[in-house]
Amino acid sequence: MKALLLAGGKGSRLLPFTRTMPKQLLPVANRPVLAHAVEHLRSVGARDVGVVVGEWGRQIRDSLGDGSRFGVRLTYLRQDSPDGLAHCVGLARSFLGDDDFVVYLGDNLFKEGLEAPARTFRERGPQVQLTVQPRPDPRDFGVAVLTPGNRVLRVVEKPDHPPSDLAVLGAYFFRPSIHEAISSIRPSPRGELELTDAVQWLVDRGDEVTAVRYDGYWRDVGRVEDLLESGRHYLEGLTPDLSGALDAESSVEGAVEIGSGAKVMRSRIIGPVMVGEGTVIEDSVVGPGVTVGRDCHVRAASIARSTVLDGVTVDGGDGFSGCLVGPEGLLACQEST
Ligand code: TTP
Repeated sequence: MKALLLAGGKGSRLLPFTRTMPKQLLPVANRPVLAHAVEHLRSVGARDVGVVVGEWGRQIRDSLGDGSRFGVRLTYLRQDSPDGLAHCVGLARSFLGDDDFVVYLGDNLFKEGLEAPARTFRERGPQVQLTVQPRPDPRDFGVAVLTPGNRVLRVVEKPDHPPSDLAVLGAYFFRPSIHEAISSIRPSPRGELELTDAVQWLVDRGDEVTAVRYDGYWRDVGRVEDLLESGRHYLEGLTPDLSGALDAESSVEGAVEIGSGAKVMRSRIIGPVMVGEGTVIEDSVVGPGVTVGRDCHVRAASIARSTVLDGVTVDGGDGFSGCLVGPEGLLACQEST
């Protein structure tokens, strides 16, 4: 099975952070969301992965390389404008050939991986298999209506009045029949070629389109609050590791990882906290629920429940709680500080 990883798009919901980097390179547990994705694709046996990129193609290529460090081969495919998820599959037609494939949205996190849905797809052998999860308010997603046997009766994109609570998640398993569907659909009112429309086209033709429920932790990290929440969730399973240096005037409580080359001086670290390599923390209180990136400098600060991006300097201030802290003073907070 091949894979198509979608890493183009506008990233408008994560402005202003996406002015300096693509959202798929934002970190969760100090690793780009896309790196988590490539690992999950490898573990479902996809060794040949096409990566659809837009204007941030060079940065994404610099981050992931040729894929050898993940044990996969990455082929970069340029999308000149973000014309929709089905448009991405269309432009990858010759890369995909006549293979089965999984489409994975590069801003999605499937913490427990995709082995179970991939197994079901191989065993049941439908033309399309969606992954779905009940959400309290699924209006921002595709929404599926299923039979008791998990056949898809209907799928609608971002409905104002959702016909069920089942959101369609960002991992779709396809057989080559989807290509015919994509060449038969037209752009939606918002001007995009929608994957859900192509799936509905196959449903209407009577093809077997199924869905599996994803029981694990899943988030679309396209918004600040979801990125922060995912970061805190990933910290829950943290294995303590004090590779960096801690001076005698500092203290550490709970699960804390301090990366190699990092230094903590005259500070209190309250786990769970992850501190990236080469970062310096001094005269500060950090934690709980904080991820500090690599090569950051935190001085005289108080930070809780937050994510600090790589290379950022935090100097003093009234304290951050529930914030995404970026370079050059970029800050988005979900809680009062
Ligand atoms: P979305 O989050 O739906 O699109 P977006 O990135 O434009 O987001 P926003 O609403 O914040 O502006 O896209 C899901 C994933 O698919 C994401 O990784 C971007 C990628 N994508 C493409 O690669 N090409 C496209 O044409 C679109 C629409 C998305």
